[in-house]
Amino acid sequence: MSHWDLGPMGPLTGRIRVPGDKSISHRSLLFNGIARGEAEITGLLRGEDVKSTWACLEALGVKIEDRGDSVRVIGCAGRFDEPYQLLDCGNSGTTFRLMCGLLAGQDLFAVLTGDRHLKKRPMRRVTDPLSAMGARFWGPENASRPPLGVRGGRLKAMEYTSPIASAQVKSALMLATLGAEGTLVFREPHRSRDHTERMLGAMGVQVTEVDGALTMEGGQTLDSRDVVVPGDISSAAFFLVAASIVPGSDLVLENVGMNPTRTGVVDALIAMGARIDVLEASEVSGEALATLRVRHSSLQGCRIEGAIIPRLVDELPVLAVAAACAEGETVFADAAELRVKESDRIAATAAGLKVNGIAVEETPDGMRIRGGSLRGGRVDSVGDHRIAMAFAVAALAGGTSRIEDVDNVATSFPNFSLLLREACSG
Ligand code: S3P
Repeated sequence: MSHWDLGPMGPLTGRIRVPGDKSISHRSLLFNGIARGEAEITGLLRGEDVKSTWACLEALGVKIEDRGDSVRVIGCAGRFDEPYQLLDCGNSGTTFRLMCGLLAGQDLFAVLTGDRHLKKRPMRRVTDPLSAMGARFWGPENASRPPLGVRGGRLKAMEYTSPIASAQVKSALMLATLGAEGTLVFREPHRSRDHTERMLGAMGVQVTEVDGALTMEGGQTLDSRDVVVPGDISSAAFFLVAASIVPGSDLVLENVGMNPTRTGVVDALIAMGARIDVLEASEVSGEALATLRVRHSSLQGCRIEGAIIPRLVDELPVLAVAAACAEGETVFADAAELRVKESDRIAATAAGLKVNGIAVEETPDGMRIRGGSLRGGRVDSVGDHRIAMAFAVAALAGGTSRIEDVDNVATSFPNFSLLLREACSG
C-alpha cells in the first residue's frame, strides 16, 4: 500500500487541465458499446474505474480500439455476447450499477463482481426495481451485494419512485428500459446528475422530463455518437479548494465540465466566500464547459443541505476541508448517501479532520465542523480516492501529513500528485 508524505506547499498558480469526467467517460463507452455504429471518444479518463467499464464491454463482445489520443468504439447494435468470464467492475459502482441495467435487458447470463470495497456496497437499489421489471439476480444477502449473477430478458418498463437521488439508479432503469416494453416513469427526491439523459438524447432516444418525472418509452435503439469528454469538475474541486485555502494562490483551471447538476461545489464555495470566476464558457458534446480562475480568500462557514447535496455528492470530503479552514461553523446535512460510497465518507472525513485537530461532530446524515487550523498528522484514507485527495489538500494548508493507502487515487485521477506539484510550483 502506498502513502504520501506532504506538507505546506504553494501558492497554487499557473494554468492546469484536469482529466476527463469519470461519469461521462463511463457513459461514452457503455452507450456507444450497445449502440449501432462506430464512435470516436476524445478526452476519455484513463482511470482504473473507466478501464473496468472498458474490460467488461470487451468481455461482452464490444470492440474498443485505443488510438492514443482517442478511443474508437464499435457498437454491438443492441446485442451483447454472453460472457465466458466474470465481469470485474473493480472499485467502480457506476460500472456495476449501469451494467446491471444494461444486462437486465439482454437475453443472457452474466456474473458481475468487484474489489473488496465494491463488495460492501448496496445493490438492492438497482436489483429491486430491475427484478420488478422482470430481470433475475442471485447474490449474497438476497442479491444485496456483489458478486451478482444476472439473467436478463424481455422486461416490462414501469413507474418507479426512487427513495434516494441517484444517477446510478436512474441510469440503470433507463438502460434496462431500452430492452423493455412499456413506459418508464422515474422520480427521485432531488435531481441527480443528468449525463445519461443528455447522451441518450444525443443518440436518438426520446426522453422527456415534466415536473421532475422522467419519461422514456421502451424498446428504443441507440445510434453511435462521437463524444468529447470535458474535464471532471469532481477532480477540479480539489484544486478549487486548495487554491481557496492556500494564501497567495491564483490558479486557472481549463476545460472544466460545468453541467448544472454537477456545479454544487462551485456554488457552495462561493457561498463560503471563495473567489471563483468563470473566464470562458462554452459547450462540448451537449455538456457545459468553462475555464475557471480561483484565488485565495477567507472563507466563512455555511449550511450545505437539501437539493444541493446530489450536485456536490462526491465533493463533500474536500468541502469539509474548506470548512475546516473557514471561520465559524459549517453544517452538512441530508448526505446519508455518503456513508455508502467507496467508503463511509462521513466517518473517514471526520476521522481525518480530528487527526488534524479540528472540532467535528458526526451526525447520521452529515457533520458539523468548526473552522480552526489544520495541524497535519497521520490520516487513513481507508483506500478511498476522494478521502486521500481531500487530505492531501488539507496538508497544503496545514502541518505535515502522512496519507495512508492512496493507491485508489488511480481510479479517478491518476495524475493528481503530479498536477498538484505542478500547480504548487507555479
Ligand atoms: C455517479 C453517480 C453518483 C456519484 C458517482 C458517479 C454516476 O453516485 O457519487 O461517483 O456516474 O452516475 P449515485 O448515483 O449513487 O449518487
